[in-house]
Amino acid sequence: MVNLFDILSLSIVITFYEAFPTFLTSALPWLYETGILSRRSNAKTLKLEACMATVSFTQMKHGTREDYQLLHQHEESFHGKTAQRLLAELKRQGQDSLDGYPISRLEHSLQSATRAWRDNANDDWIVAALLHDIGDGLAPQNHDRMAAEIIRPFVSEEVTWVIEHHGAFQMIYYAHHIDGWNPNDRDQYAGHSYYQSAVDFCERWDQNCFEPDYENQSLEFFAPFLERVFARKAYAQKTIKAGEVSGLPIINYAL
Ligand SMILES: [Fe+2]
Repeated sequence: MVNLFDILSLSIVITFYEAFPTFLTSALPWLYETGILSRRSNAKTLKLEACMATVSFTQMKHGTREDYQLLHQHEESFHGKTAQRLLAELKRQGQDSLDGYPISRLEHSLQSATRAWRDNANDDWIVAALLHDIGDGLAPQNHDRMAAEIIRPFVSEEVTWVIEHHGAFQMIYYAHHIDGWNPNDRDQYAGHSYYQSAVDFCERWDQNCFEPDYENQSLEFFAPFLERVFARKAYAQKTIKAGEVSGLPIINYAL
């Protein structure tokens, strides 16, 4: 049921929108919160939202400044939900996974992240461990590079490099069992400053993460880590730390 106040406020909002589309798009949540615009006016409000969320062009070259300002604002709020979309993809890997392994891809990733967390690794490493195989479903031939591109703007260069190349470094553990594959594929990176970090990542937080009885933390536990890392300013110098070698935390497993 639409009341008079809703119709009146909606008319004002639409008129205002025609004059200031960008401003009103950002003000929409506030209009709802304060009750100036009520969600009771379902059909009309949805129409307004759709109107506000649509640019005027069908070819990019015909877009106006207002169009691109509007899209820019939508992109900012869309970027803010990256962590949520990654969590959804990880969850999906709990159902749709590679056959033959004793645990799902999600469980493998949780085990990897939990081992990093128990080793007192920083957020960069923990998030990288959690996401290192996220490309398995969508880019199985280059899953390492896909994961690296996802984290690249938000973690250190060293961590990204390790994830980008972990596929080659993992081959030391199994490639000799497959005809024509080279277990020493990692040798091509010998001498690289991040080489040892990749060796350690695979040894401590990847090749050993297939234990069905391992007590890993839940996906919900790691959600705040993802939220924190993906809320960082993209490509900030203090995050990327170009050329800096930190390595994995030193742990004496014998103790
Ligand atoms: Fe893995």
